[in-house]
Amino acid sequence: MRCIVTGAAGFIASALCERLLEQGAQVVGIDGFVPNYEVALKRRNLAGLQANQGFRLVEGMLEELPLEKLFENVACVFHLAALPGVRSSWGNSFEDYAAHNVYASQRVFEAALQAGVGRVVYASSSSVYGDTDALPMCESARERPYSPYGVTKLAAEHLARLYHRNYGLKTVSLRYFTVYGPRQRPDMAIQRFLQAALAGTPITLFGTGEQTRDFTFVQDTVAATLRAADRGEPGAVYNVGGGSTVTVNALIGMIERVTGRQLRVERQGVQRGDVGHTCADTSRARTDLEFVPAIPLQEGLQRHWEWVEALADSSSKIAEVD
Ligand SMILES: NC(=O)c1ccc[n+]([C@@H]2O[C@H](COP(=O)([O-])OP(=O)(O)OC[C@H]3O[C@@H](n4cnc5c(N)ncnc54)[C@H](O)[C@@H]3O)[C@@H](O)[C@H]2O)c1
Repeated sequence: MRCIVTGAAGFIASALCERLLEQGAQVVGIDGFVPNYEVALKRRNLAGLQANQGFRLVEGMLEELPLEKLFENVACVFHLAALPGVRSSWGNSFEDYAAHNVYASQRVFEAALQAGVGRVVYASSSSVYGDTDALPMCESARERPYSPYGVTKLAAEHLARLYHRNYGLKTVSLRYFTVYGPRQRPDMAIQRFLQAALAGTPITLFGTGEQTRDFTFVQDTVAATLRAADRGEPGAVYNVGGGSTVTVNALIGMIERVTGRQLRVERQGVQRGDVGHTCADTSRARTDLEFVPAIPLQEGLQRHWEWVEALADSSSKIAEVD
């Protein structure tokens, strides 16, 4: 199977590419190396992939590349490229969010249609639900995004659905719930907390810490994404949650136990756009995709921590040689 993965140098998509290659797929990864975080980290995410014969990188922005040509003879497009992050989506940066998350997605769906791509799996987000007391969050609930980022993710979801309804393009949207694990983006809480544990520096906690999140280990997210390509209902939306909903205060306690280090917490007010709670109802994914998350939070944190430690260890060895 020949497939395209957009945002291939990113956290989740690089793990998806690896899994696809293990399954024998030919993978063309597209990435524009948007500087939302250090580009060197994105290059590092790709290091293993580029050594694989089955992988080819196309460097460029989805807004500009000749997508229709790139999508010829492609069975599936996994569309994960986006500008992520809730807090940074306000103000002048909204223009970039709209371009990368909405306009680029429309180009992807249009090109997939023109090129006759078999399926498009779009990475949406739990942020489309917004700040709601209706928990767990169910796909049939009304979406009320609470941040400009959430608005852009929902807009692209609508585009995916209407390309299906009007033209029969087989699109499937997945609402990912807070993904963590090796290569997590440096702006995300667990990565920040583990780095702080390693460095012995304080962490900043926004709000009381009583907000809850449904954390999903990256390999579980990847597994659900592959299943969506295989058996997702065209035009449908699925929640992809890890089934590990905890408060951020409880998460900090777990991180202290996993790392064996105490975290110094500096508190700040709630950030605009941050929601109180997320919790996925995953019945639909369980039924249609036979997706059941396999990695509980404790185990996932342990694996994430081992990765953080291994990287620190290898960079200190390089420094010694230098
Ligand atoms: N990480 C999470 O917890 C989470 C939760 C919900 C949804 N998502 C969604 O999952 C996807 C992947 O997220 P991630 O955390 O791996 O982010 P990431 O920033 O690590 O990866 C996204 C990649 O897309 C690339 N990109 C962005 N816009 C592009 C464009 N217009 N053209 C070409 N390349 C472009 C970036 O350079 C980056 O490498 C995103 O669509 C995000 O909205 C992530």
